[in-house]
Amino acid sequence: MCGIVAYIGTRPARSLLVEGLKRLEYRGYDSAGVAVIDAKNSPAKIQLAKAVGRVSNLEKRLEGTTWNGTMGIGHTRWATHGGVTEANAHPHTDDGVGIALIHNGIIENYAVLRTYLEQKGHTFVTDTDTEVLTMLIGELYDAANGVDLEAAVQAALREVTGAYAICVICKEEPDVIVAARKGSPLIVGIGNGEYIVASDPQAIIAHTAQAMTLDDYNVVKITRDGFRTSTIDNVEVTPQVLQLESELDEIDLGGYEHYMQKEIFEQPAALRNTLRGRLDMKDGRVVLGGVSAFAKDLVRARRIIMIAQGTALHSAMIAEYLFEDLARMPTECEYASEFRYRNPIVDDGTVVMAVSQSGETADTLAALHEARDRGALTLGVVNVVGSTMARETDAGVYLRVGPEIGVASTKAFTGQVAVLSMLSLFLGRRRLMSPQTASELQTELAMIPDKIEQILALAPEIKAMTERYVQHDNWLFLGRGVNYPVALEGALKLKELSYIHAEGMPAAEMKHGPIALITEGMPAVFIANKGAQYEKVLSNIAETRSRGGHVIAVATEGDKHIRSVAEDVLFIPECPEPLSPMLTVVPLQIMAYYAALARGHDVDKPRNLAKSVTVE
Ligand code: M6R
Repeated sequence: MCGIVAYIGTRPARSLLVEGLKRLEYRGYDSAGVAVIDAKNSPAKIQLAKAVGRVSNLEKRLEGTTWNGTMGIGHTRWATHGGVTEANAHPHTDDGVGIALIHNGIIENYAVLRTYLEQKGHTFVTDTDTEVLTMLIGELYDAANGVDLEAAVQAALREVTGAYAICVICKEEPDVIVAARKGSPLIVGIGNGEYIVASDPQAIIAHTAQAMTLDDYNVVKITRDGFRTSTIDNVEVTPQVLQLESELDEIDLGGYEHYMQKEIFEQPAALRNTLRGRLDMKDGRVVLGGVSAFAKDLVRARRIIMIAQGTALHSAMIAEYLFEDLARMPTECEYASEFRYRNPIVDDGTVVMAVSQSGETADTLAALHEARDRGALTLGVVNVVGSTMARETDAGVYLRVGPEIGVASTKAFTGQVAVLSMLSLFLGRRRLMSPQTASELQTELAMIPDKIEQILALAPEIKAMTERYVQHDNWLFLGRGVNYPVALEGALKLKELSYIHAEGMPAAEMKHGPIALITEGMPAVFIANKGAQYEKVLSNIAETRSRGGHVIAVATEGDKHIRSVAEDVLFIPECPEPLSPMLTVVPLQIMAYYAALARGHDVDKPRNLAKSVTVE
């Protein structure tokens, strides 16, 4: 949540910051702001502009300004403390020294600190926790006595609890940016005589592929000549430098109208990348380099606990079915936000596996720390290379689906399910699965991208169908077995993008209460592909129809019967049931996309949401 970008170098900072903010807007889009210092002005002063709404509003606000400063900070906000107003937008400034600060995260003890600072005579003009941190740094700043910006930031951060990624500038030190992180992502791009600090690689990659990661409690002081990294206790640390892997064209729209559309349609290519080099049909062994060093621990594990949030949780729920069915591995799946606070039992032989696109989700990270502290082997199934989860787990497997920019997760979901399917074969083949079964499933897995392509060709048909029902305000999504989590995912996609109320559930659960919701014409989407519980799903369809529900079925090509029980049918190619979620979800993604468009919503930036949930 919240996008952060800061620049110091030789080029004019203003346009660079705005360009960076545009690339980060998917992290938060309530308001945006920039602050620039022109060191050539004497005395130096902070030039500040903010605007409510999108970065384009900020851009308009900046029209006609002649800021020549070559260092500055920029922010796009997802509001936590304080409403969406210009005053609450970042950067925040102090009331004395001349400090400006941008922040991602939450300062939990801000109320106590604010009272303390008010007693010291400071006057607050916003409702935010961030202004408190800015003011605290200003209060501690005392250059005459050796407390320069770096030292003041360190001292202030020793006083705060909560999560933060911050960048701070000060007019008294017009050639310095100080940045720090704890619990929120922040990386520093290293260019030629310039540095770009950002919450995501997307804002850096246009300028340099070399970046340094920061660990929690790290502070970095950056000048045009270099940087110094330390802890908040001022102990020097050596940062890790990595090569960013994304290419610029991966983060551009490339002819599509929306990122979500692009990401849905690039699923075949993305999954080919996920699978590349990892399938070995000969003896049915999957090759997963990231976890091979821990193969023994995994095979001998007594149980696996999957933790995740949102769409990633739905993938993890699918893994619960796959690991138990294909590898006979006891598996539980849980919201990371619940796991972290409920005193979970992590006994000998427990492996905790986190699933996350961003690798930065606050609840999932905290749950991983809890699991690690309790002695579990921790694994990550993560998309963003070098993300905190990728670095802090014992081992893991990358999705390799490329950057996902649309707030609604699509290709990351199918990528996660592909990786988790491979992991189930990795485990299954080493535990009890015959080489032949493993090879057959791998062969089927390899065909998934082509089959998704066939489903994508149905987009015009799915669009027309969606537009017929989009006026309904309540929808149900129902599935069984491995497709029950797909029903949850279908409902989540529809509600987050079109703001239609949608509920997903196991089809059998409907008659235990939710069936009361069914009214004449209410859309009920059934995942009714051929599988072990197909006949049972047909019964649930009949129960819905007889109460006036309007059935839309996702069914297997060649199923002639389904047309006589469902009003609308979306066909997917034949596929073994355990692998079918990667296909059944695609029509639901397409439906949600067109429903949002038909209702006139911003598909890539749905209301109240942000791409990466880095606060609790
Ligand atoms: O980055 P993560 O996969 O950890 O994010 C978890 C959820 O916030 C995320 O999957 C969210 O539910 C999706 N954006 C919804 O489409």
